[in-house]
Amino acid sequence: MYKTIIRPLLFHFEPEKAHRITFQLLKTLQATPGALPLLKWFIHSHTEPVHLMGLTFPNRVGLAAGLDKNAELLKVWQALGFGFAEIGTVTPRAQSGNPKPRLFRIPQDQALINRMGFNNQGVDKVVNRLKNRPKGYVVGGNIGKNTLTPNEIAIDDYLTVFKNLSPWVDYIVVNVSCPNISNLSKLQDRESLKLLLHAIMTARENLSERTPVLLKISPDLNNGQLTDTLNLISEMNLDGVIATNTSSQRKGLRISDQEIQAIGNGGLSGKPLSNRTTEIIRIIRREMGNDIPVIASGGIVNIDDARAKLDAGANMLQLYTGFIYEGTRLIKQCLQL
Ligand SMILES: Cc1cc2nc3c(=O)[nH]c(=O)nc-3n(C[C@H](O)[C@H](O)[C@H](O)COP(=O)(O)O)c2cc1C
Repeated sequence: MYKTIIRPLLFHFEPEKAHRITFQLLKTLQATPGALPLLKWFIHSHTEPVHLMGLTFPNRVGLAAGLDKNAELLKVWQALGFGFAEIGTVTPRAQSGNPKPRLFRIPQDQALINRMGFNNQGVDKVVNRLKNRPKGYVVGGNIGKNTLTPNEIAIDDYLTVFKNLSPWVDYIVVNVSCPNISNLSKLQDRESLKLLLHAIMTARENLSERTPVLLKISPDLNNGQLTDTLNLISEMNLDGVIATNTSSQRKGLRISDQEIQAIGNGGLSGKPLSNRTTEIIRIIRREMGNDIPVIASGGIVNIDDARAKLDAGANMLQLYTGFIYEGTRLIKQCLQL
């Protein structure tokens, strides 16, 4: 039903408007007594609990960061069969993000390009909403800095969000790999990243909960940079890796060069990411062994992509672009693996 009826209707609208309409409808559904149990019964996903990072996930297929930045639809994600949902990226203060249009579909490549720019309602509002989060569900909090905060004091932003958000989520993801905030990727340089991760891990020692901390890495790191980053993850005793974020590259796409140039800058997601993400997961396993938790995010648009990620050594899967193109059928397929 999604691909024959819902998707054609939604794709009739420009992408961000389709997102707004869908969120409005799903919020109404979430507020309607009895609607979510019915939805859950209708979808009826098979679930197998997974134990990782001291947490029990209802299953290993989650919603990736960026779709529900403000934690508005957690009960819906749960009813649709996602075993966990990652909210954010959350910044200290609310911000509206980059000018529109900033989200583009590329159906011929099963891809999206976005330059949203961390649009979100700010940590205080998100925390207030999380106070009513569904019980027994796993929620991750993806953290970043405000766009106007210079890199020299970015650590303060990350620490503010970390301290405020971590009591209300089950794991934290440090996001320095988004290509849509100018100069953010500089925080991936070894020395900057070391200072940032050290500050966060030190701050964690002073909190009552030992919330797991993961780093979300870029698919555009070359293998040398990847090795440096993995060494740092070990050195800093991080609890896991999310591989990967969106890409600034535009290689091997079906869409014409002219069309891609007209879209402009932004992070590419979906099918074109799949091979590099799988390769990165394989490298993580080879260099870090079997113990480090790895969450695969990037280019899972069908069951074979999902299988490739698990075969490469991923513990968990996250969906975004594949979910936009395939709907809940993709969650169900991934759950069969
Ligand atoms: C519109 C859009 C917004 C996103 N926003 C964020 C974000 O705020 N923080 C983040 O860490 N990743 C964000 N992502 C990246 C996704 O979480 C995911 O890592 C990436 O899209 C690769 O997965 P996919 O190929 O399944 O989409 C965003 C992706 C898209 C398409």
